[in-house]
Amino acid sequence: MEFFDSHSHLNDEKFDEDRYNLIEQFKKENITRFLTCGYNLEGSKKAIEIAEECDFTYATAGISPNDIPQNEDELWKEIDEIEDLAKNKKVVAIGEIGLDFYWNKENRELQLKAFKKQIEIANKLNLPIVIHTREAVMDTLQVLKENNVINKGVFHCCPLNRELVKEALKLGFYISFSGVVTFKNAKNAEEIINMVPLDRILIETDSPYLAPEPVRGTRNTPINVKFIAGKIAQTRKISIEEVAKQTYENACRLFGLLG
Ligand code: NI
Repeated sequence: MEFFDSHSHLNDEKFDEDRYNLIEQFKKENITRFLTCGYNLEGSKKAIEIAEECDFTYATAGISPNDIPQNEDELWKEIDEIEDLAKNKKVVAIGEIGLDFYWNKENRELQLKAFKKQIEIANKLNLPIVIHTREAVMDTLQVLKENNVINKGVFHCCPLNRELVKEALKLGFYISFSGVVTFKNAKNAEEIINMVPLDRILIETDSPYLAPEPVRGTRNTPINVKFIAGKIAQTRKISIEEVAKQTYENACRLFGLLG
């Protein structure tokens, strides 16, 4: 059995002390591929550095809605740099990008501009996108309807919102489940898991955040992705091996890692 953790932040400073020692354990734990996702300029550079150091991880580059500089000129400069970084062979998607009106309401217009501009870059470079959306479901869907994303993408740590999942699937996107589906207060997790065809599900840890049950509250690592696979297996009444295999294939297909 092999797992593909489709969204981690091994570039986070919480891994500065033991990053490469930890990565060395992954293969023993059946984690044979994982993405290190960028969220700002520094984080994207670090993700690429890790991907170049280590053959079984790939990177994404992007400015997240929570990392938008206040100054618009600065934003365009950073996005230009993201475009350059994304030409690196180990960059397999633009992200994470999107909208977050939970943490940041004041710069809504700038978030929208950054999101659309980075979709343009993804299309130009023939890459999929990794979407972050929080408290912005309708706006996110509207942007995707009005700005065709050629290579589609994934709703990372997808909000457990029926309407969003339905529309996202219609638009051709993948749904990525994180540790949130294992939380005891995630009341509709099973309903949402059952809505998504098996060939459109990805699994992710979002490490170092969102550690799943039964290790909730600890520093999360890709090794815990098995708990998310386990929850999906239990909900769909299939084996964890099948979940691992399907989600692995899906991630490879989306990120162009076939063969
Ligand atoms: Ni993330």
